[in-house]
Amino acid sequence: MAVRIIVGAQWGDEGKGKVVDLLSKKANYVVRYQGGANAGHTLKFDDREVVLHLIPSGIFNGDATCIIGNGVVVDPRALLEEIGNVEKMGVNLDDKLLISESAHVILPYHRILDQVKEKSRGDDAIGTTGRGIGPAYVSKVSRVGIRMSDLHHPELFREKVEKNLADINQALVNVYNEPRIDPEEMFDSLKPCLARIQNFICNTTARLHDAIDNGEQILMEGAQGTLLDLDHGTYPYVTSSSPTAGGACTGSGIPPTAVSHVMGITKAYCTRVGNGPFPTELTDETGEKFRKHGAEFGATTGRPRRCGWLDLVALKYAVKLNGINEIAFTKLDVLDHFDTIEVCTEYDIEGEKTDTFPVSSQQLNTVKPVYQTLQGWRGTTRDIDRFKDLPGPAKEYIEFVEDFIGVPFKIISTGPKRTETILRY
Ligand code: GDP
Ligand code: IMO
Ligand code: MG
Repeated sequence: MAVRIIVGAQWGDEGKGKVVDLLSKKANYVVRYQGGANAGHTLKFDDREVVLHLIPSGIFNGDATCIIGNGVVVDPRALLEEIGNVEKMGVNLDDKLLISESAHVILPYHRILDQVKEKSRGDDAIGTTGRGIGPAYVSKVSRVGIRMSDLHHPELFREKVEKNLADINQALVNVYNEPRIDPEEMFDSLKPCLARIQNFICNTTARLHDAIDNGEQILMEGAQGTLLDLDHGTYPYVTSSSPTAGGACTGSGIPPTAVSHVMGITKAYCTRVGNGPFPTELTDETGEKFRKHGAEFGATTGRPRRCGWLDLVALKYAVKLNGINEIAFTKLDVLDHFDTIEVCTEYDIEGEKTDTFPVSSQQLNTVKPVYQTLQGWRGTTRDIDRFKDLPGPAKEYIEFVEDFIGVPFKIISTGPKRTETILRY
């Protein structure tokens, strides 16, 4: 392994945190490449459960340096809180965490804009996490964003923020009927966070280029998932960044030719949080059963996740888009509770069968999933760490999916803990 991208192959929450934590033991660098504190990555080890939003999931296992890459949008207040929580667990971040000087800063006005825009969309709301992600990327693309490097120049920082705020206050008051933001109050609230994070900021791209030259091991940690990708996901019900493998390169400065592996993470079924099309969604008691046994509640917002059967049309699309050449298959144990297992192998669009994932959300809303039924196993897979110990029908399910998408399963996860894992390397 030289550079391995870990990418969510569904709508997020596939178990990226668990897998990155597990693999980081042998890594020299773990890099988050996009998104922000909309992510919630859960790690379970030593009877502890930790949810990380911005700090890469390699912070607790091994000696990897953890990088928040240039593609990430960083909310300094959220980061400060997370730094505090991680340090309370005995990790000294001064030697372990780096933040790209080109990463953009989420300011309080981005959060407020995210929330008021969602409110104003009414029934058409995207169901964002309200963490200011979309508006922060809008600032970036509009070339008025504040970058981490600006924090080294307080006068310039203040000048840029004040300019932005003048525009944003106009919109808040005149368009959204909201109170204006007071610049002084905002700067005061930011002061302690900015002071604390200054020392982590550096040229992480150069560090990563050196690491590549030295043959070091780099893990790239995606947030969200392929179907939430701004370009390739279920637009407009997507996030505002590129979680797909291409985004790992732009979000870190690592060239595509340096990437050796792209590992897709998929649950053994599907979930989605927020609005937008979801062909295999189950709104009945079966969906409820997934939610209960899979503890499917958002790690960031606590919202109940929508649940459904595994969608192989969508998964194949994710494999092609990302160039996935290995799979981590998570939450197999949740299927322990089902007599039979459905798996979607095709879509029916007005009587025509297709295995092509439609790019239009309108069309995706009308497809009917075509299912194949497989036998359940009604036994426990929880905690099993050898493939040969799995019940026969569980092995058959895995082999069916493996054959269908044509990618080997290198990791099978049978529980949330590090130890509850089958490794097939
Ligand atoms: P991420 O955003 O992709 O890192 O995923 P989340 O942390 O948001 O959601 C995954 C949830 O599933 C977390 O609560 C994990 O602890 C849990 N989890 C991960 N792998 C497994 C597994 O194999 N079995 C079960 N039962 N839970 C798992
Ligand atoms: P991790 O990294 C699942 C969803 C939101 C919403 C849409 C846009 O934990 O897998 P945003 O706040 O990004 O503008 O919201 O994207 N979303 C996620 N869903 N897991 C996530 O992250 C998500 N991050 C954003 O629910 O539908
Ligand atoms: Mg999550």
